[in-house]
Amino acid sequence: MLSHAAALSLFGAFALAAPAPQGALPTLSAMTAPIPPVRSSQVTGPTSHGPFSGTPTVLGALSRPATMMTLPNVPAPSPSYVNPNGLLQNDETVPYQPAGGQGTNGTQPYYHPLSDFDYQSFTLALYQEWIELDLFHNGLATFSVADFEAAGLTAEDRFLIEFMANQEVGHSTMISNILGAAAPAQCTYNYPFKTVREFIDFNQRLTRFGESGVYGFLGHLDSRAAATLLLQAITTEARQQLIFRQFNGQFPMPVWFEVGIPQSWAWTLLAPYISSCPANNTRLAWQNFPSLTVLNEPNPNKIDPQINPNVSSAVTGSDPSNSTVVASSNYCPNATAVGSDCSAAISHNRTLPLSYPGRPIYLQWGNAGQAVGPNNSYVTSRSPTADAPRYAMFVNQLNATYVPLMNISGNTGVAIQPNTSTFAGDPTINGTSFIVVTSQNVYVTPFNLSNINPFVFAGPVLYSSG
Ligand SMILES: *[C@@H]1O[C@H](CO)[C@@H](O)[C@H](O)[C@H]1NC(C)=O
Ligand SMILES: *[C@@H]1O[C@H](CO)[C@@H](O)[C@H](O)[C@H]1NC(C)=O
Ligand SMILES: *[C@@H]1O[C@H](CO)[C@@H](O)[C@H](O)[C@H]1NC(C)=O
Ligand SMILES: *[C@@H]1O[C@H](CO)[C@@H](O)[C@H](O)[C@H]1NC(C)=O
Ligand SMILES: *[C@@H]1O[C@H](CO)[C@@H](O)[C@H](O)[C@H]1NC(C)=O
Ligand SMILES: *[C@@H]1O[C@H](CO)[C@@H](O)[C@H](O)[C@H]1NC(C)=O
Ligand SMILES: *[C@@H]1O[C@H](CO)[C@@H](O)[C@H](O)[C@H]1NC(C)=O
Ligand SMILES: *[C@@H]1O[C@H](CO)[C@@H](O)[C@H](O)[C@H]1NC(C)=O
Ligand SMILES: *[C@@H]1O[C@H](CO)[C@@H](O)[C@H](O)[C@H]1NC(C)=O
Ligand SMILES: *[C@@H]1O[C@H](CO)[C@@H](O)[C@H](O)[C@H]1NC(C)=O
Ligand SMILES: *[C@@H]1O[C@H](CO)[C@@H](O)[C@H](O)[C@H]1NC(C)=O
Ligand SMILES: *[C@@H]1O[C@H](CO)[C@@H](O)[C@H](O)[C@H]1NC(C)=O
Repeated sequence: MLSHAAALSLFGAFALAAPAPQGALPTLSAMTAPIPPVRSSQVTGPTSHGPFSGTPTVLGALSRPATMMTLPNVPAPSPSYVNPNGLLQNDETVPYQPAGGQGTNGTQPYYHPLSDFDYQSFTLALYQEWIELDLFHNGLATFSVADFEAAGLTAEDRFLIEFMANQEVGHSTMISNILGAAAPAQCTYNYPFKTVREFIDFNQRLTRFGESGVYGFLGHLDSRAAATLLLQAITTEARQQLIFRQFNGQFPMPVWFEVGIPQSWAWTLLAPYISSCPANNTRLAWQNFPSLTVLNEPNPNKIDPQINPNVSSAVTGSDPSNSTVVASSNYCPNATAVGSDCSAAISHNRTLPLSYPGRPIYLQWGNAGQAVGPNNSYVTSRSPTADAPRYAMFVNQLNATYVPLMNISGNTGVAIQPNTSTFAGDPTINGTSFIVVTSQNVYVTPFNLSNINPFVFAGPVLYSSG
């Protein structure tokens, strides 16, 4: 395993820059530092994929006894800093460095987890980077040049996907260095797509929850030094998400803010696509909630998504929308008019929206106690406080909005898409957003969103909105 020293040597090329000789052009890097090795299998051909058919040898999330069953709701302490006049309130630490901040007093940064919370968050992030590394290569290896060309993706576009796979080599290496000896290895996966359009749609969904899964915990990490490195990886993932939306002919960023979600939501979405992992792979402590399905998911391959909204349109978790079920006359990748055309492009307007406030959303949920994830060795669960399905919770941008679940029958119910805005001019629910079913409508804000987890009955599912 790569060591602490290897992680630090990531910075070697900058730290060791030599002064330029007199008269020579200045150079940013003396190129004297050794190049740190990567930790990955550079697989470019098709690899073995498919569902797991064996018997699990271990069951459930990694766990230890909990010190509390539920969190108290404690008021924030009075702030120790207020600034009513915009002036410096304290002497500077050193010239040009205002007082305060963390890691700003000369103490050397420590780029490793400082708690189980940190360790498990980075482990989840590594599981995510590993699937992306496999997935991007797998799509390139699975579909022919003709398939990609028919979906409007050129050789240059395919090279960009390949480059994104290579970014994952760096991300998985860096997170492995942060974690140390027990960093989990790459697994084997089972993907839900059959066409290039579905591959691209799956990618824009998977990178959405990968990105949002990290935003959800970044500010909560004990190790700010390690958080800084992870932020620098996740910002490239954010660009991947946007580019996959462009490849899918969708408006690239129809929101003013990118949403953060709890780790257990990201793990619930990720686990179904992992079929097996090596025997001793480090396990996760996060919860797998029962699955959630949108039976009438708006299909981004349609000019008018409200035509045949129920036909082959069920989407569970992060599954892509079916690209082959759409009638020729309604198939937007082949349309040419502005407002109808959804072929790969930097940006497209939609004349007919994917979804709208007031749209009925038909939901179906799975059960607790179902085997899921690598080697079927995790089990879906809900807390005793998630006693019944009562609300659909829409989570996007800076907001969480509850609407009552109606017409509940068995494991189905209907929710009406709410009409909310973050700020005037920015409808909250747009782009690839999150829906969960909850038992209570507990008030949460972006930094305590995970407090809803004890009330999550099922989900999340990704909703193609806007
Ligand atoms: C610097 O800050 C760290 C916490 O970030 C603290 O542990 C350490 O004692 C501080 N050192 C000094 C010299 O104040
Ligand atoms: C699992 O076993 C392999 C091979 O012995 C070893 O390289 C790796 O570090 C082990 N992983 C963990 C998490 O212990
Ligand atoms: C999971 O399945 C793989 C492939 O069959 C196997 O190699 C591995 O040992 C299994 N892991 C566990 C924890 O049973
Ligand atoms: C779609 O399915 C829902 C739930 O079964 C039903 O209420 C609705 O009428 C259907 N819509 C159409 C257009 O078939
Ligand atoms: C899409 O729908 C068609 C028709 O129902 C079906 O044959 C096909 O398998 C579906 N594709 C996927 C990826 O589920
Ligand atoms: C879209 O256009 C391509 C190329 O002309 C054609 O092969 C394909 O059948 C069309 N798809 C649909 C759903 O009409
Ligand atoms: C795209 O949509 C925006 C907002 O509705 C509109 O202002 C603009 O004119 C549209 N552009 C085109 C080319 O349709
Ligand atoms: C959504 O709310 C805005 C602001 O109150 C309002 O202008 C708009 O008509 C509403 N849309 C729907 C579909 O209710
Ligand atoms: C709930 O069911 C009633 C009776 O079948 C129906 O009239 C109503 O439209 C349904 N509500 C929704 C939101 O689908
Ligand atoms: C959405 O979040 C923003 C920022 O926290 C807040 O100002 C706004 O009131 C929220 N909107 C709703 C409808 O709750
Ligand atoms: C979350 O934080 C908000 C303040 O931003 C607070 O009003 C709310 O009670 C908290 N929710 C929970 C469940 O602790
Ligand atoms: C979603 O964003 C797009 C791009 O800004 C906009 O054209 C569309 O009207 C938005 N949809 C909703 C439901 O707000």
